[in-house]
Amino acid sequence: MLLKRLELNNFRNYGKQVITPDPLFNIITGVNAQGKTNILESIFIALTGRSFRTVKEKEIISWESNFSYIKGLFETKGRSVEVKVLLQPGNKKIEVNGVSTRGYPMQWPGVVLFTPDDMIMIKGSPQERRRFLDYEIGPFKNQYSHFLGLYNRVLFQRNKLLKEIRDRKNKNRSLDVWNEQLCRYGAKIISMRMDLLKKMVPTTRGLHRIFTGGAEEIDIRYISSIGIKNHAGEEEIYSQFRNSLKIIEDDEISRAHSLMGPHRDDLLILINGSDARIYGSQGQQRTVVLTLKITQIKQWNKEMDEYPILILDDVMFELDSNRRQELLKHVSGLAQTFVSSSGEEKINFIEGYTKKIFKVKSGKIIDI
Ligand SMILES: Nc1ncnc2c1ncn2[C@@H]1O[C@H](COP(=O)(O)OP(=O)(O)O)[C@@H](O)[C@H]1O
Ligand SMILES: [Mg+2]
Repeated sequence: MLLKRLELNNFRNYGKQVITPDPLFNIITGVNAQGKTNILESIFIALTGRSFRTVKEKEIISWESNFSYIKGLFETKGRSVEVKVLLQPGNKKIEVNGVSTRGYPMQWPGVVLFTPDDMIMIKGSPQERRRFLDYEIGPFKNQYSHFLGLYNRVLFQRNKLLKEIRDRKNKNRSLDVWNEQLCRYGAKIISMRMDLLKKMVPTTRGLHRIFTGGAEEIDIRYISSIGIKNHAGEEEIYSQFRNSLKIIEDDEISRAHSLMGPHRDDLLILINGSDARIYGSQGQQRTVVLTLKITQIKQWNKEMDEYPILILDDVMFELDSNRRQELLKHVSGLAQTFVSSSGEEKINFIEGYTKKIFKVKSGKIIDI
């Protein structure tokens, strides 16, 4: 995936701005609050249809305008694709080569994002680790996003019904219809997630060994709220889910909430056998995130036969030099990369790599 031209119109603090990036390495520099992250955000939106910073898309429209659009000209598998994302208050329109679309503009997200907030994947709640499964590695799998959408819709309806049953204090027969669907889609999601992990963990283990000079072993396990074992098949997961639901039904009604299923599951990340979330040092946790991101890039490459665009917002120069070199070694010449940094002097760290530097000042790119 290659971004050849980016055009911003009334996007955050930009008026009209056109950028022609380098096919390999791009550095966005400038002091704080000038518009570095805004550029990275716009590339991410063009590739995924959504922002990584906000769900309130209205915030993205320049304060001086009532609409905003991004145009990205990409090259993917020898094809030119123009993506246009138009934002108006309460309205978003995505067009690919002039044709309206929904979801990911180009079938796959085509981007790997690494920001300081990713540490939350290790330190944060199970929800953060599920986000990694659902949005970062899930879309590898054909139909994962489709079934996740169906599951979430059923979950929402079922929770609503549980509340109705509790409030009316009578059992409603239609609950069983929702139970059936929750377990069907739920079993699919769980089994797909386990498959994804099975595929990616060997790569993660190999990379992590390199990054730690062989001193540490990483392992990642799927923790199921239903108590499913890691090698269970879809049918087995389904029947275990059905049985478990029967046992907790009264509890679910009294709490008006679905207490089991993929929306309650977690990942356990182990370093030398201990939970990285609890026992990992800051440095170890950072290495885990870096390892997962590079795994993601490699995994995308295997599935899609091309590299995603890599976006590093404020992390490249925060890594220690060994890890930075490892990162560069694994992506340079492969994935088109965009990094932001406020310290111009640090750019010399990536001496030897061809690069294009963009200097940003109050919503404008200025020549250097
Ligand atoms: N909708 C908007 N309209 C105009 N300016 C905005 C909007 N959203 C954010 N900004 C401005 O963008 C700037 C932040 O840009 P950002 O890319 O996050 O900076 P940095 O260079 O530190 O990464 C701030 O000055 C902020 O006021
Ligand atoms: Mg920033």
